[in-house]
Amino acid sequence: MLETGKRNDVAKQLIAGNWKLNLTVAEATGLAQSLATESEGLLHRCDLLVAPGFLTLEAVRSAVLGTGINVAAQNGYHEPKGAFTGEVSFAQLCDLGIQWVILGHSERRAVFGETDEVLAHKLKGALGCGMHPIFCVGESLEQRESGAASSVVTAQLAAALSGLTPDSAKNLVIAYEPVWAIGTGLTASPAQAAEMHALIREELSKRWGQETGQSVRLLYGGSVKAANAAELLGQANVDGVLVGGASLQAAEFLAIAAASCETR
Ligand code: PGA
Repeated sequence: MLETGKRNDVAKQLIAGNWKLNLTVAEATGLAQSLATESEGLLHRCDLLVAPGFLTLEAVRSAVLGTGINVAAQNGYHEPKGAFTGEVSFAQLCDLGIQWVILGHSERRAVFGETDEVLAHKLKGALGCGMHPIFCVGESLEQRESGAASSVVTAQLAAALSGLTPDSAKNLVIAYEPVWAIGTGLTASPAQAAEMHALIREELSKRWGQETGQSVRLLYGGSVKAANAAELLGQANVDGVLVGGASLQAAEFLAIAAASCETR
């Protein structure tokens, strides 16, 4: 196993909120405005990012403009334009000033049938546009119980990263989200999170060399809330969190960000 305990100083932790299919334009704008005004004291210690739905991206982007809070899309399509009814391309997102995108979320994989192959195209497309993808991996409960968690995550990573150059690493963030912990109230124990993050780090370092592998930020996601954030964020190789339900309340989300500051 690689020596990883010291690298938490490499970059600020990233506290990312995935708003999923929630919030009207007015609600999303209100939440973004609250974050903009109440996060000032936190932003020099950690990075904040929110991922609203497509229809509210512009309103949220305007509400947080100049604050340092980043805005991500929750999905995107690798072809820049053409006969792809219903899709939104990375090129269109960039045109809107959106430089971040979540890819490979388990809901995209499970509900919308996005395969490793499709996701590899998407990841390549997003990186090719100069975007910062947050690429999600994680095992189901059945896979964990059968002892396959590590091999599932390793295979998801291999499929996603195989065509990429080490240069891609500078924009890439990986989120480990055990599917059984998403929206369920169940959280990976700090030890389970640390173990999987160490494995992901090792895979990145094997592929791209130690220095590059160490530089990629790894987020944990799955029922993160203010009450459990500090312990998870305190683990080696946990460089931030991807938060779903708890990111829909400004106070709760900012309390998670404050927990990040305390671990540094
Ligand atoms: P959750 O969602 O925090 O509601 O479990 C996490 C996610 O899906 O990214």
